[in-house]
Amino acid sequence: MCRFYYIATMGCQMNEYDSDCLGQQLMNYGLAATDNHENADLIIINTCTVRAKAQQKAFSLIGRMMSIKKRKPDVILGVMGCIAQQEGSDLLKKFPDIDLVLGTREIGSTPQLLDRITKGKEKIVATDLSIKPIPRERHDGYFRNSIKSYISIMEGCNNFCSYCIVPYVRGREVSRSSKEIMEEAKSLVSQGIKEITLLGQNVNSYSFTEREDVDFPMLLRMLSGLDGLNRIRFTTSHPKDLSDDLISCFKELSVLCPHIHLPFQSGSDRILRMMNRGYSREQYIELIAKLRDIRPDFAITSDVMVGFPGESDKDFQMTIDLIKKIEFDNLFSFKYSDRKGTFSENMDKKVDEHEKSSRLSILQSIQKEITLKRNIKHIGKEEEVLVEGESKKGGQLTGRNETNKIVNFYSDIKLTGSLVRVYIKHAFINSLQGTLIKGH
Ligand code: 5AD
Ligand code: SF4
Repeated sequence: MCRFYYIATMGCQMNEYDSDCLGQQLMNYGLAATDNHENADLIIINTCTVRAKAQQKAFSLIGRMMSIKKRKPDVILGVMGCIAQQEGSDLLKKFPDIDLVLGTREIGSTPQLLDRITKGKEKIVATDLSIKPIPRERHDGYFRNSIKSYISIMEGCNNFCSYCIVPYVRGREVSRSSKEIMEEAKSLVSQGIKEITLLGQNVNSYSFTEREDVDFPMLLRMLSGLDGLNRIRFTTSHPKDLSDDLISCFKELSVLCPHIHLPFQSGSDRILRMMNRGYSREQYIELIAKLRDIRPDFAITSDVMVGFPGESDKDFQMTIDLIKKIEFDNLFSFKYSDRKGTFSENMDKKVDEHEKSSRLSILQSIQKEITLKRNIKHIGKEEEVLVEGESKKGGQLTGRNETNKIVNFYSDIKLTGSLVRVYIKHAFINSLQGTLIKGH
């Protein structure tokens, strides 16, 4: 059997989490990690298909990895994640050198699948979506050098936004038991993790009702009591499930960071209806007002799309208007991309690519100014920073404040993993810069 594994992870945080779960499993199976694919005996590509561009990127990486197999035929090549789930056995037709197609819910059976591949020299497609997420295997010590980590608390999505492939490749919503989640959190904290981000495609609709009745605010309250855990975040939330009880958790729980990623997608009610989003522009504005009522510096980040089928210039202006009204701390903005099998794929009045690009660049330049304006508001404040290590450019330490903004500062002592206080002096588009307040 092979000795080294290499995982290339593309896409969202859920894929990063899945790659970590697979990595722990592979270590328990007797393999060691390598960050050089040339040394690997097992290569896994964890893929994303949310937009056509992500899919093209994954296909080209699979193609490049296939060339390694030509030179080293004993290497096992696996593709996991959303493209594996979507394409299934078709992927083997496109890329005949793949040995394993691993769907989004079958990660738990990887060791048995690898045994079959090595013993029987067979190719395997494992894409059953009806499997419930099983308890994730742990490898204690895997996170020993990390400060923060994810925990997936629910998987799948029942919302069927008309543009979105996720419900088809991640299946329906299933929540994990609070007991399992608490155990995973305790293990992470015992390995030195200080910050946990709870993950789910629709994290705030978490609900576990099998042996207990735990909803998302209850789960947050349970986690907040964990000794040694400094910070909790969660992503991604859906505006229609952002309850008053959840909002009050931000007031009540000091470990819950004052930041939310709350995708709005469009500022036009007509487009929101066509997207099947389940809320109006006004309702979205009200939610943000409630959050900023708790703290005016509450950070709001969001996802938005331009060029959804039928989006007129007036609809686009409504989006721009909403962006100016809310003043998001940061925005992830995308051009609408047709996905096979979604409702919007068959909608008419598709927006021309050129028009989409021009709307996107207008939107991004407006947001850039707003991001800087929001960052400048931190100047002159003393903020709590969880130190993650040395900054990329070197010389400084880097970490994040409670609102998830990068803060860099000079220090002559090693502080990785500590919570420190920093006086913010400068603000840039992507980071803040300050001086360490000593003696805390
Ligand atoms: N086209 C463009 N953007 C999309 N997203 C999801 N599906 C599509 C699509 N078909 C964006 C949404 C979502 C984010 C993760 O990706 O904004 O919130
Ligand atoms: Fe996709 Fe909508 Fe579900 Fe988010 S809520 S994963 S955008 S279907």
